[in-house]
Amino acid sequence: MQLKEKIDSLLAEAREIRLQTMEDAERYRIRLLGRKGELNDLFEEFKTVEPGLKKDIGQALNQLKTAVQEAIQKAKDGCLQKESTQAASQLDLSRPVDERIGHRHPLSQVREEIFRIFGKIGFDVSDGPEIEDDWHVFTALNFSADHPARDMQDTFFIERSGTPQDVLLRTHTSSVQIRSMMNHPLPIRTLCPGRVYRNEVVSARAHCFFHQIEGLYVDKNVSFADLHDTLLYFAREMFGNDTKIRLRPSYFPFTEPSAEMDIACTICAGKGCTLCKHTGWVEILGCGMVDPAVLKNCGIDPDVYSGFAFGVGVERIANLLYRVNDLRLFSENDRRFLSQF
Ligand code: DAH
Repeated sequence: MQLKEKIDSLLAEAREIRLQTMEDAERYRIRLLGRKGELNDLFEEFKTVEPGLKKDIGQALNQLKTAVQEAIQKAKDGCLQKESTQAASQLDLSRPVDERIGHRHPLSQVREEIFRIFGKIGFDVSDGPEIEDDWHVFTALNFSADHPARDMQDTFFIERSGTPQDVLLRTHTSSVQIRSMMNHPLPIRTLCPGRVYRNEVVSARAHCFFHQIEGLYVDKNVSFADLHDTLLYFAREMFGNDTKIRLRPSYFPFTEPSAEMDIACTICAGKGCTLCKHTGWVEILGCGMVDPAVLKNCGIDPDVYSGFAFGVGVERIANLLYRVNDLRLFSENDRRFLSQF
């Protein structure tokens, strides 16, 4: 057969062929377009065609190649469509949905509840970095140079050549107090949530990271009574309307006076149990009046302004609400634990 006739007959075939399956299409592709396929042979033969015929035969060859490619593509499209209509017909729209949809982590739920409670009395939310410097975490907060909290045993320092022990993972969110006081106009009423890090051996009761929410209120005439009433409001919103609180004198370098707040034990209601170590009370946060030296460090005049601050552990609140007795559960991502909230 002449070259032109071979091309014409393959062209007629390509235009008529009905490839039913993906396998048919592949077989046809290999036969025509494969390395040892018929089109390659024709292109070889084409080299010997006399110059006067080259134009016509060349065009016919290209036409053939396009027709073959189109036939294959058409077959593939048809097969895919068939598959998807088959899949759709197997869809059972009456099947009940899988109800195991995701939800907020218990610590996020507690954090959001705290935002909601303080949001109602005008507190906004501030953010600050987890990798901090000594000044924001300790110095500006009035920690003396030899305060044990700076010690290597508590703080993860980040080594950087040239500036030893200046960069560290924040040990508390009180560092964001400093950032807020330096960057925001007064009055300030803000919550600073976030993860904090301490060099602790991980156990049921201690972890090398946990979460805190710092609260800060700075204005003219802020008093200890304001602090007390704000925290009482918080405790009652969080734990129920008849929750009792007590403030015990304590010490923090950045507050004066300082206190720790206890609530009447949520399990035994003050009668005494293992959770409250038979005292009837459980500690939930540290607080106090912002030390005038800290205000001064942030450029605020302590003769005009005063403020209160508090720091609450999110895991601590979650433990009291949900009675989780092992801190590690909060970060292990075990669905058997998380799905209970
Ligand atoms: N930063 C303290 C801690 O990590 C908690 C704290 C105590 C924060 C008293 C405060 C405060 O703002 O006034 O233990």
